Amino acid sequence: MQFKFELEGGNFSKAGYASSQIKKVLKQLSIDSHIIKRVVVALYEAEVNVVAHAWRGIVQAEIDADKISLILQDEGPGIPDIDQAMQEGFSTASPAVREMGFGAGMGLPNMKKNVDELKIESKVDEGTTVRMTTYFSVKGE
Ligand SMILES: Nc1ncnc2c1ncn2[C@@H]1O[C@H](COP(=O)(O)OP(=O)(O)OP(=O)(O)O)[C@@H](O)[C@H]1O
Ligand SMILES: [Mg+2]
Repeated sequence: MQFKFELEGGNFSKAGYASSQIKKVLKQLSIDSHIIKRVVVALYEAEVNVVAHAWRGIVQAEIDADKISLILQDEGPGIPDIDQAMQEGFSTASPAVREMGFGAGMGLPNMKKNVDELKIESKVDEGTTVRMTTYFSVKGE
């Protein structure tokens, strides 16, 4: 199963749509609710990052029998130092984004904690690609 969603920089009303849709699909597939929560948290944080830090992006989700793969590809400023960005508390969020309650510098560390694999590729002034994979077993197996 494949899904695709679009994100616009600055449009916080659209952040969270992909994660809520994916949540519904995983529930229908009877995936373990603990795993669903972790995937949804990670995807939500990744969606917000595109909206908060980039200009536009797409979310692609692929659900297979044993895993879910999520790819968020954006056009944006990129991340100059990924190791630094991964540290808890590091944030370059604008005052406007902070006023909306984001910018604690916890999104990337939370994504890392909640998925099995996280890969980030980024080019300054071009954009960022985040890949996350979570493995699961279908209930009863
Ligand atoms: N898609 C992205 N494009 C450009 N920069 C990004 C992107 N995602 C993350 N970053 C950079 O990495 C930093 C850390 O991201 P992280 O999600 O951990 O924190 P935050 O978004 O600033 O705050 P929080 O997620 O806690 O609301 C960001 O402040 C930003 O500098
Ligand atoms: Mg964030």
